[in-house]
Amino acid sequence: MRKTLNVLGLVSLALLLAASALAGDEGGGKKLDGKKLFKEVCKGCHGAEAPAGEYAPMFLIQEQWTKFFAEDYATTHKGLTVSESDTTKVLDAITPEMLEAIRAFCLEGAADSEHPMTCG
Ligand code: HEC
Repeated sequence: MRKTLNVLGLVSLALLLAASALAGDEGGGKKLDGKKLFKEVCKGCHGAEAPAGEYAPMFLIQEQWTKFFAEDYATTHKGLTVSESDTTKVLDAITPEMLEAIRAFCLEGAADSEHPMTCG
């Protein structure tokens, strides 16, 4: 009986480790999901009828997205906070890694790309 319990204990420990390894891959994994981030981060201010203007990858061509991320974003989004209740600066809330993933998604779905994408 004791032995059986030990084996069970080991098995559940192994399962637990496997599960946390999987969870780690999904959450803090190296490859960030640009589409998901665009939805979560950008769409909050750039959804349909948003005062800041609606934006989706296919709203601009690749050249415009490249210029936006390289030059304009840092200036035009500088003073903005995440929301009225969350006063974290947008520029701080979006890490360089997140921004890179979003940039890649926008370029991939730009108006002149192979697969223009309507929404993040
Ligand atoms: C907190 C709200 C907010 C968030 C978050 C936000 N934006 Fe904006 N965005 C604005 C506002 C406000 C403007 C208008 C700035 C202006 O006209 O000076 C703007 C302008 C833009 C423009 C027009 C070009 C420009 O620079 O003015 C683009 C493109 C854009 N945003 C894309 C994005 C993308 C992509 C993200 C996600 C990485 C994002 N925005 C996140 C509020 C936001």
